Amino acid sequence: MKIYKIAVIAGDGIGPEVLAEGIKVLKTVAQLAGDFNFEFTYFPWGCEYYLKHGKMMDEDGLDTLKAFDAIYLGAVGYPGVPDHISLCDLLLKIRKGFDQYVNLRPIQLLEGAPCPLKDSRRDQIDMLVVRENSEGEYAGAGEWLFRGQPEEVVLQTGVFSRKGTERIIRYAYEIARKTKKTLTSISKGNALVYSMVFWDQVFAEVGREYPDVVTHSYLVDAACMFFVKEPERFQIVVTSNLFGDIITDLGAAIAGGMGLAAGANINPEGKHPSMFEPIHGSAPDIAGKGIANPLASIWSVSQMLDFFGQEEWGKVVLQAIEQVMVQKKSLTPDMGGTANTQEVGNEVVSILSKLCG
Ligand code: NAI
Ligand code: MG
Repeated sequence: MKIYKIAVIAGDGIGPEVLAEGIKVLKTVAQLAGDFNFEFTYFPWGCEYYLKHGKMMDEDGLDTLKAFDAIYLGAVGYPGVPDHISLCDLLLKIRKGFDQYVNLRPIQLLEGAPCPLKDSRRDQIDMLVVRENSEGEYAGAGEWLFRGQPEEVVLQTGVFSRKGTERIIRYAYEIARKTKKTLTSISKGNALVYSMVFWDQVFAEVGREYPDVVTHSYLVDAACMFFVKEPERFQIVVTSNLFGDIITDLGAAIAGGMGLAAGANINPEGKHPSMFEPIHGSAPDIAGKGIANPLASIWSVSQMLDFFGQEEWGKVVLQAIEQVMVQKKSLTPDMGGTANTQEVGNEVVSILSKLCG
């Protein structure tokens, strides 16, 4: 029997609460499938660990994680530890260290999901954002000069290598070709006259290898407007690290909220483990109350199953999420319900058993 080895980094705030439900779902899927299983190993890394040990994760953390088929991450960040430390020393360290240069974020209005856009139909909000995940604006390059003095200057440098830019754009073209969908590049070449002019040039260059793919290009500000006004313009979207981060929160808002949005950090070559996570943070405002919506972390389980080549099961998990939202019996307060986190997880599990029983 195939055993998938999963490293679980539940992290901070609502991270452990929502991940517990995703793990429940994975265990149920394994039981129903019968021909594969999961082995979970838990790592206590995160802000609490930092406060005790002065580090977000062990020094040899990446070495340890290498042995796993995938990483399942909750959220990191908590008041008391500066956000740039929690983000850079754990999340970005893993994304960069394992060359997870593709961040796949589906913006898809599932059946039953709440949508704040008046008159928007499900088929009009159905896109996949392919976000560059290893360099760009989040490369961490820069300088802080004359700190605290009147001449103080800070430089935050975007890093756009030819290799990094080409590979993410090519990855997106491949998806567009395979799915026969349009590909839209989101950039800002009118103001970022080095990085984004280069990005646009590479998008056009690589595009010559894909004459069959219909393309569009938008400036990021216009893209934000169209996300809200005419989301049907977008099918496959490719964009930089920062822009992808921002527009996918906007995308989450139009497709059911932060409690529903998932993201996969992929190392396409399979040289290193990939990582699956809800895109939301640790939500300190609701942590510990048991009301966090676990559907985002359950959707990321569906992405993990797809990644393992278990697409049929990935689809069934999505169907179960849809049924929970259509029935509206078991929803957390962010979706207008009164259920707690565990009740939503239990409902997904029970629907899965019915769908496949
Ligand atoms: P956040 O995503 O944690 O919360 C934003 C709002 O959405 C809050 O009102 C929260 O209650 C709500 N929310 C988020 N997830 C929810 C869920 N599953 N169910 C119901 N409501 C949910 O973003 P925020 O407040 O900006 O950041 C909080 C902390 O999380 C910070 O330390 C930040 O650095 C960190 N963070 C970590 C991320 C990660 O680990 N991938 C991503 C984003 C932020
Ligand atoms: Mg974000």
